[in-house]
Amino acid sequence: MTIIDGKIVAADIRKELKEKISELQSEHNKVPGLVAILVGSNPASQVYVRMKSKACDEVGIYSVVEKLPFETSEEDLLTIVQNYNSDDRFNGILVQLPLPEHINEDKIIEAISPSKDVDGFHPVNIGKLMIGQDTFESCTPAGIVELLKRYNIETKGKHVVVLGRSNIVGKPVANLLLQKKEGANAVVTVCHSAAKNLKDYTLTADILIAAIGRANFVTEDMVKDGVVIIDVGINRIDDDSRKSGYRLVGDVDFENVSKKSSYITPVPGGVGPMTIAMLLQNTYKSFLKSNNYNSV
Ligand code: GUN
Repeated sequence: MTIIDGKIVAADIRKELKEKISELQSEHNKVPGLVAILVGSNPASQVYVRMKSKACDEVGIYSVVEKLPFETSEEDLLTIVQNYNSDDRFNGILVQLPLPEHINEDKIIEAISPSKDVDGFHPVNIGKLMIGQDTFESCTPAGIVELLKRYNIETKGKHVVVLGRSNIVGKPVANLLLQKKEGANAVVTVCHSAAKNLKDYTLTADILIAAIGRANFVTEDMVKDGVVIIDVGINRIDDDSRKSGYRLVGDVDFENVSKKSSYITPVPGGVGPMTIAMLLQNTYKSFLKSNNYNSV
Protein backbone atom coordinates (compact mmCIF):
# COMPACT_ATOMS: atom_id res chain seq x y z
CA MET A 1 0.00 0.00 0.00
CA THR A 2 1.31 3.41 -0.98
CA ILE A 3 0.22 6.58 0.76
CA ILE A 4 -0.23 9.33 -1.83
CA ASP A 5 1.61 12.33 -0.45
CA GLY A 6 -0.19 15.44 -1.65
CA LYS A 7 2.09 17.66 0.41
CA ILE A 8 5.17 16.55 -1.51
CA VAL A 9 3.50 16.71 -4.93
CA ALA A 10 2.06 20.16 -4.16
CA ALA A 11 5.48 21.37 -2.99
CA ASP A 12 7.01 20.11 -6.26
CA ILE A 13 4.37 21.99 -8.26
CA ARG A 14 4.94 25.18 -6.25
CA LYS A 15 8.68 24.89 -6.85
CA GLU A 16 8.17 24.43 -10.60
CA LEU A 17 5.84 27.43 -10.68
CA LYS A 18 8.19 29.61 -8.66
CA GLU A 19 10.97 29.00 -11.16
CA LYS A 20 8.76 29.74 -14.16
CA ILE A 21 7.36 32.91 -12.59
CA SER A 22 10.80 34.15 -11.66
CA GLU A 23 12.06 33.57 -15.21
CA LEU A 24 9.13 35.44 -16.69
CA GLN A 25 9.59 38.23 -14.20
CA SER A 26 13.18 38.78 -15.21
CA GLU A 27 12.18 38.71 -18.86
CA HIS A 28 9.08 40.94 -18.71
CA ASN A 29 9.19 42.58 -15.28
CA LYS A 30 5.67 41.41 -14.56
CA VAL A 31 4.18 38.84 -12.18
CA PRO A 32 0.78 37.11 -11.99
CA GLY A 33 -1.79 38.55 -9.57
CA LEU A 34 -4.62 36.96 -7.62
CA VAL A 35 -7.32 38.62 -5.54
CA ALA A 36 -9.19 36.59 -2.94
CA ILE A 37 -12.48 38.07 -1.81
CA LEU A 38 -13.69 37.03 1.62
CA VAL A 39 -17.09 38.12 2.86
CA GLY A 40 -17.70 37.77 6.59
CA SER A 41 -15.63 35.86 9.09
CA ASN A 42 -16.33 32.16 8.61
CA PRO A 43 -13.37 30.62 10.50
CA ALA A 44 -12.66 27.85 7.95
CA SER A 45 -12.85 30.36 5.06
CA GLN A 46 -10.42 32.67 6.87
CA VAL A 47 -7.94 29.82 7.22
CA TYR A 48 -8.30 28.80 3.56
CA VAL A 49 -7.86 32.34 2.28
CA ARG A 50 -4.80 32.86 4.47
CA MET A 51 -3.30 29.62 3.14
CA LYS A 52 -3.99 30.64 -0.46
CA SER A 53 -2.43 34.05 0.02
CA LYS A 54 0.64 32.57 1.72
CA ALA A 55 1.07 30.09 -1.13
CA CYS A 56 0.91 32.98 -3.62
CA ASP A 57 3.66 34.83 -1.75
CA GLU A 58 5.80 31.72 -1.76
CA VAL A 59 5.74 31.30 -5.55
CA GLY A 60 5.92 34.99 -6.45
CA ILE A 61 2.26 35.67 -7.29
CA TYR A 62 1.11 39.13 -6.20
CA SER A 63 -1.88 38.56 -3.95
CA VAL A 64 -4.47 40.74 -2.28
CA VAL A 65 -7.11 39.62 0.17
CA GLU A 66 -10.20 41.80 -0.03
CA LYS A 67 -11.96 41.37 3.30
CA LEU A 68 -15.54 42.55 3.30
CA PRO A 69 -18.02 42.73 6.16
CA PHE A 70 -20.74 40.09 6.49
CA GLU A 71 -23.37 42.76 5.77
CA THR A 72 -21.97 43.54 2.29
CA SER A 73 -24.87 43.65 -0.15
CA GLU A 74 -25.08 41.51 -3.27
CA GLU A 75 -25.08 44.66 -5.36
CA ASP A 76 -21.89 45.99 -3.75
CA LEU A 77 -20.16 42.63 -4.14
CA LEU A 78 -21.13 42.53 -7.82
CA THR A 79 -19.61 45.99 -8.31
CA ILE A 80 -16.41 44.94 -6.54
CA VAL A 81 -16.09 41.82 -8.70
CA GLN A 82 -16.67 43.87 -11.84
CA ASN A 83 -13.95 46.31 -10.80
CA TYR A 84 -11.50 43.45 -10.42
CA ASN A 85 -12.56 42.09 -13.82
CA SER A 86 -11.13 45.23 -15.40
CA ASP A 87 -8.11 45.55 -13.10
CA ASP A 88 -5.07 44.38 -15.07
CA ARG A 89 -3.01 43.71 -11.94
CA PHE A 90 -5.09 40.60 -11.32
CA ASN A 91 -5.18 37.54 -13.57
CA GLY A 92 -7.28 35.59 -11.11
CA ILE A 93 -10.31 36.43 -8.99
CA LEU A 94 -11.61 34.08 -6.36
CA VAL A 95 -14.61 34.61 -4.17
CA GLN A 96 -14.34 32.34 -1.17
CA LEU A 97 -17.45 30.21 -0.65
CA PRO A 98 -19.77 29.90 1.17
CA LEU A 99 -21.15 33.42 0.92
CA PRO A 100 -23.65 34.83 3.46
CA GLU A 101 -27.20 33.70 2.74
CA HIS A 102 -28.40 37.11 1.56
CA ILE A 103 -26.02 36.88 -1.41
CA ASN A 104 -26.80 34.68 -4.39
CA GLU A 105 -23.64 32.64 -5.02
CA ASP A 106 -24.55 31.78 -8.60
CA LYS A 107 -24.99 35.43 -9.46
CA ILE A 108 -21.58 36.33 -8.03
CA ILE A 109 -19.79 33.44 -9.74
CA GLU A 110 -21.39 34.41 -13.05
CA ALA A 111 -20.16 37.99 -12.59
CA ILE A 112 -16.52 36.88 -12.53
CA SER A 113 -14.96 37.15 -15.96
CA PRO A 114 -14.51 33.55 -17.23
CA SER A 115 -10.97 34.56 -18.24
CA LYS A 116 -10.13 35.30 -14.57
CA ASP A 117 -12.16 32.49 -13.00
CA VAL A 118 -9.18 30.55 -11.63
CA ASP A 119 -11.47 28.48 -9.37
CA GLY A 120 -13.12 27.11 -12.52
CA PHE A 121 -16.61 27.70 -11.11
CA HIS A 122 -18.09 29.86 -13.90
CA PRO A 123 -20.72 28.04 -16.01
CA VAL A 124 -18.70 28.83 -19.16
CA ASN A 125 -15.63 27.11 -17.74
CA ILE A 126 -17.61 24.18 -16.36
CA GLY A 127 -19.22 23.79 -19.78
CA LYS A 128 -15.81 23.80 -21.48
CA LEU A 129 -14.51 21.26 -19.01
CA MET A 130 -17.49 19.03 -19.75
CA ILE A 131 -16.87 19.05 -23.50
CA GLY A 132 -13.13 18.63 -23.13
CA GLN A 133 -12.02 22.12 -24.16
CA ASP A 134 -9.05 23.89 -22.64
CA THR A 135 -10.26 25.87 -19.62
CA PHE A 136 -9.62 26.58 -15.94
CA GLU A 137 -10.32 23.23 -14.37
CA SER A 138 -11.81 23.42 -10.87
CA CYS A 139 -8.89 23.13 -8.49
CA THR A 140 -9.77 20.08 -6.38
CA PRO A 141 -10.75 17.91 -9.39
CA ALA A 142 -7.62 19.05 -11.27
CA GLY A 143 -5.56 18.23 -8.18
CA ILE A 144 -6.99 14.71 -8.05
CA VAL A 145 -6.18 14.06 -11.71
CA GLU A 146 -2.66 15.46 -11.19
CA LEU A 147 -2.06 13.17 -8.20
CA LEU A 148 -3.14 10.11 -10.20
CA LYS A 149 -0.82 11.17 -13.04
CA ARG A 150 2.19 11.82 -10.84
CA TYR A 151 1.79 8.45 -9.13
CA ASN A 152 1.44 6.75 -12.55
CA ILE A 153 -1.93 5.30 -11.61
CA GLU A 154 -3.64 4.00 -14.74
CA THR A 155 -7.09 5.47 -15.34
CA LYS A 156 -7.75 4.32 -18.92
CA GLY A 157 -10.59 1.81 -18.92
CA LYS A 158 -10.69 1.73 -15.11
CA HIS A 159 -13.92 1.98 -13.19
CA VAL A 160 -13.92 5.20 -11.19
CA VAL A 161 -16.72 5.53 -8.66
CA VAL A 162 -17.31 9.06 -7.39
CA LEU A 163 -19.27 9.50 -4.17
CA GLY A 164 -20.88 12.94 -4.20
CA ARG A 165 -22.28 15.16 -6.95
CA SER A 166 -21.27 18.66 -5.82
CA ASN A 167 -20.56 21.30 -8.43
CA ILE A 168 -17.06 21.87 -7.08
CA VAL A 169 -15.86 18.26 -6.78
CA GLY A 170 -18.13 15.36 -7.74
CA LYS A 171 -19.50 16.59 -11.06
CA PRO A 172 -16.29 18.15 -12.43
CA VAL A 173 -14.00 15.29 -11.38
CA ALA A 174 -16.36 12.79 -13.02
CA ASN A 175 -16.29 14.84 -16.21
CA LEU A 176 -12.51 15.25 -16.20
CA LEU A 177 -11.88 11.53 -15.80
CA LEU A 178 -14.41 10.75 -18.49
CA GLN A 179 -12.56 12.66 -21.23
CA LYS A 180 -10.84 10.69 -23.96
CA LYS A 181 -7.44 12.00 -22.93
CA GLU A 182 -4.17 10.91 -21.40
CA GLY A 183 -4.62 10.64 -17.62
CA ALA A 184 -8.38 10.13 -17.98
CA ASN A 185 -10.43 7.86 -20.29
CA ALA A 186 -12.06 6.10 -17.34
CA VAL A 187 -15.51 4.55 -17.00
CA VAL A 188 -17.16 6.74 -14.39
CA THR A 189 -20.08 6.17 -12.04
CA VAL A 190 -21.37 9.00 -9.86
CA CYS A 191 -23.20 7.95 -6.70
CA HIS A 192 -25.13 10.24 -4.39
CA SER A 193 -27.46 10.31 -1.42
CA ALA A 194 -30.33 8.72 -3.35
CA ALA A 195 -28.30 5.67 -4.38
CA LYS A 196 -29.70 2.37 -3.19
CA ASN A 197 -27.28 -0.37 -2.13
CA LEU A 198 -24.22 1.84 -2.43
CA LYS A 199 -21.96 -1.16 -1.89
CA ASP A 200 -23.06 -2.64 -5.21
CA TYR A 201 -21.27 0.28 -6.86
CA THR A 202 -18.34 0.83 -4.55
CA LEU A 203 -17.30 -2.84 -4.57
CA THR A 204 -16.70 -2.60 -8.33
CA ALA A 205 -14.52 0.52 -8.08
CA ASP A 206 -10.90 0.37 -9.23
CA ILE A 207 -10.61 3.98 -8.08
CA LEU A 208 -12.95 5.35 -5.43
CA ILE A 209 -13.25 9.11 -4.97
CA ALA A 210 -15.08 10.09 -1.79
CA ALA A 211 -16.42 13.65 -1.69
CA ILE A 212 -19.50 13.61 0.49
CA GLY A 213 -18.40 15.29 3.70
CA ARG A 214 -19.23 12.52 6.16
CA ALA A 215 -16.52 11.36 8.54
CA ASN A 216 -15.34 7.77 8.06
CA PHE A 217 -18.29 6.97 5.77
CA VAL A 218 -16.40 4.54 3.52
CA THR A 219 -15.63 1.34 5.41
CA GLU A 220 -13.51 -1.68 4.47
CA ASP A 221 -16.50 -3.85 3.57
CA MET A 222 -17.37 -1.35 0.80
CA VAL A 223 -14.16 -1.72 -1.23
CA LYS A 224 -12.34 -4.44 -3.11
CA ASP A 225 -8.72 -5.48 -2.62
CA GLY A 226 -6.27 -3.27 -4.50
CA VAL A 227 -8.60 -0.27 -4.75
CA VAL A 228 -7.16 3.23 -5.19
CA ILE A 229 -8.72 5.59 -2.66
CA ILE A 230 -8.95 9.36 -3.14
CA ASP A 231 -10.41 10.95 -0.03
CA VAL A 232 -11.64 14.51 -0.55
CA GLY A 233 -13.44 14.85 2.78
CA ILE A 234 -12.28 17.22 5.49
CA ASN A 235 -14.40 16.59 8.58
CA ARG A 236 -13.87 17.75 12.14
CA ILE A 237 -14.44 15.15 14.83
CA ASP A 238 -14.14 15.65 18.59
CA ASP A 239 -10.82 14.61 20.05
CA ASP A 240 -10.13 15.47 23.67
CA SER A 241 -6.47 14.50 23.33
CA ARG A 242 -5.92 17.52 21.03
CA LYS A 243 -5.44 21.03 22.29
CA SER A 244 -8.02 22.26 19.77
CA GLY A 245 -10.51 19.63 20.98
CA TYR A 246 -10.91 18.21 17.47
CA ARG A 247 -9.04 16.52 14.66
CA LEU A 248 -9.56 16.33 10.92
CA VAL A 249 -10.60 13.10 9.26
CA GLY A 250 -11.66 12.24 5.73
CA ASP A 251 -14.74 10.51 4.34
CA VAL A 252 -12.86 7.20 4.47
CA ASP A 253 -12.05 5.04 7.49
CA PHE A 254 -8.34 5.28 6.73
CA GLU A 255 -7.09 2.79 9.27
CA ASN A 256 -9.13 -0.13 7.97
CA VAL A 257 -9.64 0.79 4.31
CA SER A 258 -5.92 1.39 3.80
CA LYS A 259 -5.27 -2.32 4.50
CA LYS A 260 -7.17 -3.22 1.33
CA SER A 261 -5.89 -0.37 -0.85
CA SER A 262 -3.06 -0.21 -3.36
CA TYR A 263 -2.92 3.58 -3.02
CA ILE A 264 -4.68 5.92 -0.62
CA THR A 265 -4.66 9.66 0.13
CA PRO A 266 -4.45 10.66 3.80
CA VAL A 267 -6.44 13.47 5.44
CA PRO A 268 -4.87 15.90 6.00
CA GLY A 269 -2.00 15.91 3.51
CA GLY A 270 -3.61 14.23 0.51
CA VAL A 271 -5.94 16.11 -1.81
CA GLY A 272 -6.07 19.33 0.28
CA PRO A 273 -2.63 20.74 -0.58
CA MET A 274 -3.27 20.00 -4.27
CA THR A 275 -6.28 22.30 -4.39
CA ILE A 276 -4.12 25.32 -3.60
CA ALA A 277 -1.34 24.19 -5.95
CA MET A 278 -3.86 24.02 -8.80
CA LEU A 279 -5.19 27.47 -7.94
CA LEU A 280 -1.66 28.84 -8.32
CA GLN A 281 -1.25 26.94 -11.57
CA ASN A 282 -4.51 28.34 -12.93
CA THR A 283 -3.44 31.87 -11.98
CA TYR A 284 -0.14 31.34 -13.79
CA LYS A 285 -2.00 29.99 -16.82
CA SER A 286 -4.29 33.04 -16.84
CA PHE A 287 -1.24 35.33 -16.64
CA LEU A 288 0.36 33.61 -19.65
CA LYS A 289 -2.85 33.80 -21.65
CA SER A 290 -3.67 37.43 -20.93
CA ASN A 291 -0.13 38.54 -21.82
CA ASN A 292 0.30 36.16 -24.76
CA TYR A 293 3.40 34.72 -23.11
CA ASN A 294 4.60 31.24 -23.90
CA SER A 295 5.16 28.85 -21.05
CA VAL A 296 8.82 28.70 -20.01
N1 GUN B 1 -14.91 26.94 -0.56
C1 GUN B 1 -14.56 25.65 -0.40
N2 GUN B 1 -13.68 25.29 -1.37
C2 GUN B 1 -13.49 26.37 -2.13
C3 GUN B 1 -12.69 26.62 -3.29
O1 GUN B 1 -11.98 25.77 -3.82
N3 GUN B 1 -12.77 27.89 -3.79
C4 GUN B 1 -13.56 28.84 -3.25
N4 GUN B 1 -13.58 30.03 -3.83
N5 GUN B 1 -14.32 28.63 -2.20
C5 GUN B 1 -14.28 27.41 -1.64
